[in-house]
Amino acid sequence: MIPVIEFKNVKVKYNYDLDDYALDIDELIIGHNENVAIIGPNGAGKSSFINLISRDNYPEPEDNSVCNIYGSDRWDVFELRSHLGIVSPNYQHKIGVEATVLDTVISGFFSSIGIIEEADVKVSMTEKALDALEFFGISGLADRMITELSTGQSRLVLIARALIHDPESLILDEPASGLDIKAAHLFRQNLIKLADHGTNIIVVTHNFEDIVSCINRVIILKNGRIFKDGPCEEVITDENLSELYSMDINVKQSKHGYIAELSDC
Ligand SMILES: Nc1ncnc2c1ncn2[C@@H]1O[C@H](COP(=O)(O)OP(=O)(O)O)[C@@H](O)[C@H]1O
Ligand SMILES: [Mg+2]
Repeated sequence: MIPVIEFKNVKVKYNYDLDDYALDIDELIIGHNENVAIIGPNGAGKSSFINLISRDNYPEPEDNSVCNIYGSDRWDVFELRSHLGIVSPNYQHKIGVEATVLDTVISGFFSSIGIIEEADVKVSMTEKALDALEFFGISGLADRMITELSTGQSRLVLIARALIHDPESLILDEPASGLDIKAAHLFRQNLIKLADHGTNIIVVTHNFEDIVSCINRVIILKNGRIFKDGPCEEVITDENLSELYSMDINVKQSKHGYIAELSDC
């Protein structure tokens, strides 16, 4: 089967005065059956990674470079949207338009945000959008204006919107940032529910609690490079995290993900 992501010799640079790349990946393949957390400190290259997938960033033209998403090196919105749902803070900023929650979710069918022509909306689209809101337990918000919602509520609306095409993979950048403890917990439970329904999850985060039970592979980025990659229990260790952050860190697995804290000594 074609992998979800196939990167070879992929480099991203923003500042040509610097020698280092913001992202520099020799080889990375993410398959269909993997739910992956991509973690790393601030500035590690996590958002640059997501922006490559959404084609908000383009890799440097390099020899032998491969930057395929579902086997394609082009971001054809209509071709790829059945495969991929992407939710990133970039999208949250774009939803500052006057639209209801329901219309925002429906707009996912048109790959636009908010503004849609009533005449183009089919009954089946409205039904699907209502189902997506129901899935996240936010049906009660359908008629509210998107601009009036809390960060957590609007995050869930954006995820419902990303799921409108039943994408095979859902890719999330720092999904729980800005959510209160209850909203973050419910959100993570929903991720597990989605994975149970067969959606591939790729979550990019600096928060170890986002590494929920459905995640079976962890990739740590450090200074734009892959620092560690493997099963959760092999990668999320005191040793690796202490080296990553250059401080003594203890990490333990809880019922709801991982908890990392500074060592007492
Ligand atoms: N638009 C940009 N212009 C210049 N530098 C950027 C830009 N976006 C990110 N960077 C730099 O690229 C590196 C990786 O950033 P980013 O991918 O946002 O990291 P993360 O999401 O892990 O915090 C950082 O050094 C950051 O300062
Ligand atoms: Mg980021």
